Amino acid sequence: MTWLITGGAGYIGAHVVRAMTEAGERAVVYDDLSTGVAARVPDGVPLVEGSTLDGELLARTLTGHAVTGVVHLAAKKQVGESVERPLHYYRENVEGLRVLLDAVTAAGVASFVFSSSAAVYGMPDVGLVTEDTPCVPMSPYGETKLAGEWLVRATGRATGLSTACLRYFNVAGAATPELADTGVSNLIPMVFEKLTEGAPPRVFGDDYPTPDGTCVRDYIHVADLAEAHVAAAHALTASPGRDLTLNIGRGEGVSVREMIDRINTVTGHDRPPAVAPRRPGDPARVVASADRVTAELGWKARHDVQDMITSAWAGWIRLHPEAARSRSS
Ligand code: WQD
Repeated sequence: MTWLITGGAGYIGAHVVRAMTEAGERAVVYDDLSTGVAARVPDGVPLVEGSTLDGELLARTLTGHAVTGVVHLAAKKQVGESVERPLHYYRENVEGLRVLLDAVTAAGVASFVFSSSAAVYGMPDVGLVTEDTPCVPMSPYGETKLAGEWLVRATGRATGLSTACLRYFNVAGAATPELADTGVSNLIPMVFEKLTEGAPPRVFGDDYPTPDGTCVRDYIHVADLAEAHVAAAHALTASPGRDLTLNIGRGEGVSVREMIDRINTVTGHDRPPAVAPRRPGDPARVVASADRVTAELGWKARHDVQDMITSAWAGWIRLHPEAARSRSS
């Protein structure tokens, strides 16, 4: 099997490439390098630089490399930016996917794994979010992921393409320091940044209806997430015509305060957080039920929050050597 991995030079995509090749699959990366980094693509894996809006290049790539399956991760993923630039997000995430699916079906590709998000659920008012929890996205970003799922499933029904939509919860950590997230837009790197500056990490709101008043999330190690893609890819290959929609999380809620405490401990700091105002649009609690993915794919996360913080910190220190000297105690 040869898998085209769009967005394979990105943080999550590079982990998927690594897991797929370690599982013995051939991989080809397709990435516009807008946020991806060519150095993340391993030797021996071809990199095609291009946009998912370029149907001709996609067609040539799919046939030229005899691609049999696609893992589609190339997308814009900043929730705040999507509010400012909704049309850009719809173009990149929805139109880009439509063009890709057109090329995929024309080339006779058999399997399609789609990178979706817990953002499709919006503000779920349940203890554990199942795949049947209503999808009410709260941002254009979440809308584009939900619309993307519709496109993927409708194409599967119409053409027989085997599909899997994987709804990622809060992704963190790194398999190696070189593959770490270089962005600073999620809790763990944002706390690292503050600690490195010698400033208190921020808690966005401590008056939520949760045990310690701070938001609760389900954090998933990116290496586990990558393994879920391998499992989904294998399931689609083994039984054509499948149509999977799966939460990829651990089913364990961790609060922002707990995360900051653990980050302080792992990184050798002792900086109590400062409470800042709530961030608009943040749900109090989003925790996955991971029962369906375990039942369908036999997949289960292996890494805990400690592994996520430790590996993310190793990647942070690599990019910010001064951080190793920032300890406050
Ligand atoms: C986690 C919690 C913050 C920084 C987003 C998207 C989601 C998915 C993952 C993409 C929240 C709090 C954060 C800080 C804080 N995106 N926080 N202090 O918002 O759960 O999910 O990223 O694919 O769709 O919505 O993740 O890491 O930004 O925040 O208190 O300095 O940490 O308010 O409660 P979020 P996050």
